[in-house]
Amino acid sequence: MDTVLSGIRSTGNLHLGNYFGAVKNFVRMQHENRCFFFVADYHSLTTHPKPENLQNNIRTVLSEYLAAGLDPEVATLYVQSDVPEIPELYLLLNMNAYVGELERTTTFKEKIRKQPENINAGLLTYPVLMCADIIIHNADKVPVGKDQEQNLEMARKFARRFNHMYGVEYFTMPEPYNFGQELIKVPGLDGTGKMGKSEGNGIYLADEPKVIRKKVMRAVTDEGPKVPNSPMTEPVANLFYLLELLSTPDVVEHFRAQYNGCTIRYGDLKKQLAEDMISFTSPIRDRILEIYNDDEYLRKVVRMGAEKARESASKTVRDVREILGYRSF
Ligand code: ADP
Ligand code: TRP
Repeated sequence: MDTVLSGIRSTGNLHLGNYFGAVKNFVRMQHENRCFFFVADYHSLTTHPKPENLQNNIRTVLSEYLAAGLDPEVATLYVQSDVPEIPELYLLLNMNAYVGELERTTTFKEKIRKQPENINAGLLTYPVLMCADIIIHNADKVPVGKDQEQNLEMARKFARRFNHMYGVEYFTMPEPYNFGQELIKVPGLDGTGKMGKSEGNGIYLADEPKVIRKKVMRAVTDEGPKVPNSPMTEPVANLFYLLELLSTPDVVEHFRAQYNGCTIRYGDLKKQLAEDMISFTSPIRDRILEIYNDDEYLRKVVRMGAEKARESASKTVRDVREILGYRSF
């Protein structure tokens, strides 16, 4: 059985792209693997969130992942800052991470460009903390988006370096993991490209129905097909893609036939798409709100997660201390 681990950025809400592209797969994978999912709230300190926002962000992320189907009884779901073994391993790994290689990381260079007024050491050593996150549970597979591949490569480099320096075969090399044939790219509603937070075109699981209707009705289309069986322009193909994800096959067929017969009215398609999105998101949204306001449940979830995570993490740190030469008197 593989150990799968993923860190969740503790900023921002889940949109349909995150759901179909990642979270849905986590939900499936938790039954087939030893899974660790955690809220990366130490990483988020690099941008100096206000204390009240930090707490709210963690609560939001936990509520949304739980509502989307992560089962805290099956997977290990925890908050990074609840596991003190992670910063300890991070400190130890920092001694074998070189400033030069950290400065050359693309994500660091990007941060220098984006926040020149706050280039802190936490940003520089971000990949080391990420490495600690991963190898502390000896994860085999790490599902990450493209932007995180270099960080994962560095995690492998640090793990390999540790093994080599101390002549051990202690750490497993974590591999990036994508979900194979199921890999999908959920398009946005603005005509081109994917749905994304920074693209500002997301339909969020927590969006109210009227917000979803408004967003969908504003979706970009074209002037409509002039001759039967025309190829679709990208904005229209994107709408059909979303319809296929969220509606029943007969609905898709109905609008496809209308498109091919040049009788389609995009307004009708959008109305249907909006309602089907709402049917899909509404129960999740209700559950998000319910969990968000249930202190007792959340407390139980994070306590259980921290306990399970610390069991595995403390064993690693104990072994690493021993390998490094720390012995108790
Ligand atoms: P965002 O910043 O837009 O929320 P991230 O880049 O943080 O998205 O991605 C988080 C996860 O969600 C990644 O695994 C990524 O592959 C997935 N994801 C994000 N947007 C999409 C999309 N439009 N289609 C499919 N998967 C997506
Ligand atoms: N850096 C990741 C991101 O921005 C989040 C993260 C932190 C992570 N630690 C991790 C992802 C460990 C995978 C494994 O999305």
